[in-house]
Amino acid sequence: MTPDDLKALVRTVPGFPKPGILFRDITTLIAHGEGLRSSVDALANLANGLGASAVAGIEARGFIFGTALALELGMGFIPLRKPGKLPVATLHEDYALEYGTARLELDPTLVNADERVLLVDDLLATGGTAIAAATLLRRAGAVVDHALFVIDLPELAGRTALEDHGLATHAVMA
Ligand code: PRP
Ligand code: ADE
Repeated sequence: MTPDDLKALVRTVPGFPKPGILFRDITTLIAHGEGLRSSVDALANLANGLGASAVAGIEARGFIFGTALALELGMGFIPLRKPGKLPVATLHEDYALEYGTARLELDPTLVNADERVLLVDDLLATGGTAIAAATLLRRAGAVVDHALFVIDLPELAGRTALEDHGLATHAVMA
């Protein structure tokens, strides 16, 4: 499937979760067998040559694509979790995103020192979430230079924000 075919599988819902937001709902894409397969293949192509040995994904939607990509690449998956879910001591980062504020938590023992980790999420908007995720992984000792997304919303300039934090953006569709 082409990026345009995949884009057509993403449902746009105006006014969720707040007035003024055009919400890109990926549930319609992941429920489509060929669409899901094709998105994960496209992520694997983007990951080719980036030299990582683990994949980290952001709860919740980043878990879907991140785990699938980790399996495809034969790598382990490091979950970046929403607050209060992990049963061990965690590092945390607070951040702002397109429609609010949130916190991510990481169990630092999941990261090997100097391990090159690919960051994966479904969608890049302002970049707040991905920057917080990379900061946490780096605090735990990882090298994080690349972030992969299924969708980039260029009007929110996340790519530039990530660049300012030493992260290259790779996206299946914009
Ligand atoms: C969404 C999306 C990204 C983030 C992108 O997650 O899955 O993680 O927003 O926004 P940003 O680039 O402006 O930071 P959300 O926090 O809505 O959580 P969910 O995956 O649990 O739905
Ligand atoms: N996360 C941040 N902005 C979003 C949007 N417009 N649609 C879906 N997820 C998002």
